[in-house]
Amino acid sequence: MVKLVTLTIDGVKVQVPAAATILAAAGKARVPIPHLCYMGGINEVNACKVCVVEIAGRQRLVSACTEKVAEGMEVLVSSPRALAARRTMVQLLLSQHECDCAECSKSGSCQLQKLAADLGIVEIRYRKKIAERPWDPAFPLQRDERKCIKCFRCVNVCAKVQTMKVWQAQKSGALTTVGVADGLDIAQAPCTLCGQCIAQCPAGALSERDDTQKLQAALAADKTVIALAPPAARIVLAESLGLKKEAVTAAHADSALKQTGIAHTDDGSRASALFIKKEAELLFARLQNKKEGAPPLFSSACPVWSRFLRFKYPNFAKELSPNGSPQQIFGESAKKVSAAELKAKEIYTVSFMPCVAKKGEADAALLDANGAKAVDAVLTPGETSRFLQSFDLKAEVLETSPALASSAAGPAALSNSLVVPVLAALYEKITGQKLPAEKLQTFSSAPGRKDYVLELDSRALRACTVVGQKNAVRLLDDIQSGKAKYAYVEVMNCPALCQAAPQN
Ligand code: SF4
Ligand code: SF4
Ligand code: FES
Repeated sequence: MVKLVTLTIDGVKVQVPAAATILAAAGKARVPIPHLCYMGGINEVNACKVCVVEIAGRQRLVSACTEKVAEGMEVLVSSPRALAARRTMVQLLLSQHECDCAECSKSGSCQLQKLAADLGIVEIRYRKKIAERPWDPAFPLQRDERKCIKCFRCVNVCAKVQTMKVWQAQKSGALTTVGVADGLDIAQAPCTLCGQCIAQCPAGALSERDDTQKLQAALAADKTVIALAPPAARIVLAESLGLKKEAVTAAHADSALKQTGIAHTDDGSRASALFIKKEAELLFARLQNKKEGAPPLFSSACPVWSRFLRFKYPNFAKELSPNGSPQQIFGESAKKVSAAELKAKEIYTVSFMPCVAKKGEADAALLDANGAKAVDAVLTPGETSRFLQSFDLKAEVLETSPALASSAAGPAALSNSLVVPVLAALYEKITGQKLPAEKLQTFSSAPGRKDYVLELDSRALRACTVVGQKNAVRLLDDIQSGKAKYAYVEVMNCPALCQAAPQN
């Protein structure tokens, strides 16, 4: 039987388990307590002290995220003492933070900025002590030491959620900071570019590399810009234009991007269709030669997953498909085919993608020995939004724009699983017929896993789609132990399906 205690928080009575923290009790009582470093079960390090509250009758103020409740406790979140202490704590954080908000990509969504504004802080009473450290400007993930407030969210989300341990606390006392573990340069570290630490950084110290200036420069230089704008990019367009996301179509994407000077847009369905065909051909070839118990072919469409597999399971890395992803196929085709068709002097390709790892994928894949890239720039949703906001886009014009020939809601939408279309293409290649529904069974053999059994003449071919890194690790363990056997595996690393991580 769980022991319950009753307490009040800013006068609101609440009953919670005796082991609960004041922060958890306040959540139940719906009394907000500002907090920065705390992430339940992930980062409970009592670092920022922003959650400081007063307990009636006690001299010492306490951190609500670590202090346990007690019977009859009277918690004061907004008493003059608690507010003064919270202001002091935020001012101390600001004294070690470079407040260049006008040129910070997190401005407007920065938790530290909001907290300072909510507390009415207009000046910092403490002497600024800003530490600096060089960072590789070419790496897709950027870190600005001058903004780090040492909350350790990045350290623990990377280690405990992503299992990668890229970050580590360094030095001690007043000099404590965060850096890449083992003194490595970030380019040498096992970073999958999942973006979770960027999403969790409350102070703008972590961000994606900004590629908007590169795109602006290409437009200014009159290059013929071709853009990949898959369905996920339409959601960002909707927000930029003040439209409801359900109301935005591929035609909006096409028209909005053309208003910026982009010459052509591509919704990705052709590249996806080509990717599917190449995967089916590869799978067909492997089926001809495959020995009993051989490992599956792993799709390489999710670059976070590809990086994870190379870092953590190098024995499986050779099973990664060499077909890359629809993004890279789009880039190669735009550079080779469209350049000839359009008789363009210089083609510049940009891809609007939901994920920072797509930058890493584009950086790594060279088109030729001269270092030319298939995809010149990749803009994540934050960058897409900033890029679009620099133009005066007209939604009313967009609504009368002609529709694109191929719908963005086509069968090979980039953000969806590609296993079924790959299996359908394989079936057609082998039998010469379209895949009938009864030849493909689907079920789930484990959490986050969707299994497919394709009936092929006398054989059955097993494939699966797995969502989430934890579920993918379970699958790899099952494959290694011989418990699971698949011919084709697709992993989508992020639980939110190629979208930003949920905020804690
Ligand atoms: S980089 Fe960001 S998340 Fe990491 S410790 Fe610094 S402020 Fe916190
Ligand atoms: S992007 Fe992901 S893997 Fe890389 S450091 Fe951040 S949390 Fe870790
Ligand atoms: S949120 Fe409680 S100490 Fe940071």
